[in-house]
Amino acid sequence: MASVAPLPDLDFPGHDKLVAAIDHSVSLGDEHAVTASLRNTLCALIRDPDVHLPDCVHSAIADHYARREIYRSAKHGYSVVAMTWGPGQGTPIHDHSGLWCVEGVWDGELEITQYELLERDGDRFRFRAAGGMHAGPGSAGSLIPPHEYHTIANASDDAVAVSLHIYQAPMECCSKFFPQSGEWFLRTDSALKTDQAA
Ligand SMILES: [Fe+2]
Repeated sequence: MASVAPLPDLDFPGHDKLVAAIDHSVSLGDEHAVTASLRNTLCALIRDPDVHLPDCVHSAIADHYARREIYRSAKHGYSVVAMTWGPGQGTPIHDHSGLWCVEGVWDGELEITQYELLERDGDRFRFRAAGGMHAGPGSAGSLIPPHEYHTIANASDDAVAVSLHIYQAPMECCSKFFPQSGEWFLRTDSALKTDQAA
């Protein structure tokens, strides 16, 4: 009989408190209620002196921003991913594969820009920046598809930033959009990898 790989579940101070708080929020009903509650929960957890994310999440990786899945819920299906952004690291415009997500800044500062989809021609998408946020520690925002197109970048030239992302379900692929000309971008489907977490 094939063995089943255990779900990601790192040990860290405040683990049980974090999981209980997220479990409570995700059981509140529809995606609007859940994400609103999770924003509050995440802001409180970031400021909670009992909660310390695993040491590994503070290590940036030289050639890409790091994605480390620190917990996945067997009961509720959500996934908690810590991301580590070295100076200058960021994402292209991307979507979230139809999943809601709540993301909070744990450490450092991130620049988040939302994009409005103006029109589409096959795999060509026309976007316009629709607003941005310079987010520091203790702030959290949420995405509910179809309002999901955005970029994230470390706003600092010399400091590492850490963010925590709670996804409705593990996000294993998404679409990324690369500039063509003017406001037009070309969609590329992309598999998302996770980095070693220990
Ligand atoms: Fe994202």
